[in-house]
Amino acid sequence: MFEAFFDFTGTPFSRDISVKELLETASFKELQGRLNHVSRMRDFGVFTGDAGTGKTTAIRRFCQGLDSNKYSVLYISDSGLTPRNFYWETLHQLGYEPRFYRGDAKRQLQKALAVLVDNEKKTPVVIVDEAHLLSREMLEEIRFLLNLRMDSYSALSLILTGQTELRETLKLQVNEAIWQRVDMRFHLLAMSKEETTAYITKHLAAVKAHGEIFTQSAIGVIHEYCGGIPRKVNKVAAACLMAATGQKSKADR
Ligand SMILES: Nc1ncnc2c1ncn2[C@@H]1O[C@H](COP(=O)(O)OP(=O)(O)OP(=O)(O)O)[C@@H](O)[C@H]1O
Ligand SMILES: [Mg+2]
Repeated sequence: MFEAFFDFTGTPFSRDISVKELLETASFKELQGRLNHVSRMRDFGVFTGDAGTGKTTAIRRFCQGLDSNKYSVLYISDSGLTPRNFYWETLHQLGYEPRFYRGDAKRQLQKALAVLVDNEKKTPVVIVDEAHLLSREMLEEIRFLLNLRMDSYSALSLILTGQTELRETLKLQVNEAIWQRVDMRFHLLAMSKEETTAYITKHLAAVKAHGEIFTQSAIGVIHEYCGGIPRKVNKVAAACLMAATGQKSKADR
C-alpha cells in the first residue's frame, strides 16, 4: 500500500532482503571474517546475539560467499531438534536416504562425511541455528560431532548460533567439555546510531526512494526505541510509512 504512495520500486524493510543489499555493520563484518576463518581451519565456532540482530542473515551471507567446490554446507534450524532429526536432516542434505535407527544413521553420517572429505575433497561446514534451544540430549550429540573432528580424515567445521543465553548454557558445568573446545566465540552487536541511519538509508535506496523520508531526528527516535536491532527497525520503519500513507490519504479526502 505505501509502496505506491511513496513511488517505491519494491517493499523496503522486508525480511527477504537480498544478500547484496545487506548492511555490513562493523560487528557483521568482523563476524564474517571470523566465520571464514572457522571454515578454513575446520574449527568450532559459537556466536550469539540478541533476537533480531541478524544471526541468520549473517549465516546466509557467509554461506553465499563460500566456494562450493571447497565447502559443503549443512544447515540445520529446528527449534525442537532431536538427535534423530539431526542425523536425518544432515543425511538428506547430503543426498542420502537415512537409516531408520539412530545408531545406524549416526554411522552413516560419519561415513558420508568421510566420503565428502576424502573423495570430494570438500570441507563439511555444519551450522546449527537456534542453538539456544538445543536439548541436553542434543548437546551430547554435538560432543560426538566434536569428537569426529579429532579424526583428521573426517575433520569438519562446526558453527553453533543462537540467542544470548546459548553462551550461558554452554558455560554450565555439565557442558564444560563442549565449551572448552570452542575455538571462536563472538557476540553480534546491535547497530550503533550511525549504523541505524545507514541501515534505513540503504533499505530506502534499494527501492529507489526519492527525497528525505525519515528526518535525522525521526531516525534518532527509531534507533532509541529499537535499540539498534534490525528486525525491530524494520517493523517500526514500515509502520511509520504505513501511518504516513494513511494520514496523507485522510488529509486528501
Ligand atoms: N546486516 C543486515 N542488513 C540488512 N538487514 C538485516 C541485517 N541483519 C538483519 N537484517 C534484517 O533483520 C531481520 C532479522 O534478522 P535475523 O532473522 O537474521 O535475526 P536473528 O538474529 O537470526 O533473530 P532470531 O534470534 O530471532 O533468530 C532480517 O529479516 C533482515 O531483514
Ligand atoms: Mg535467526
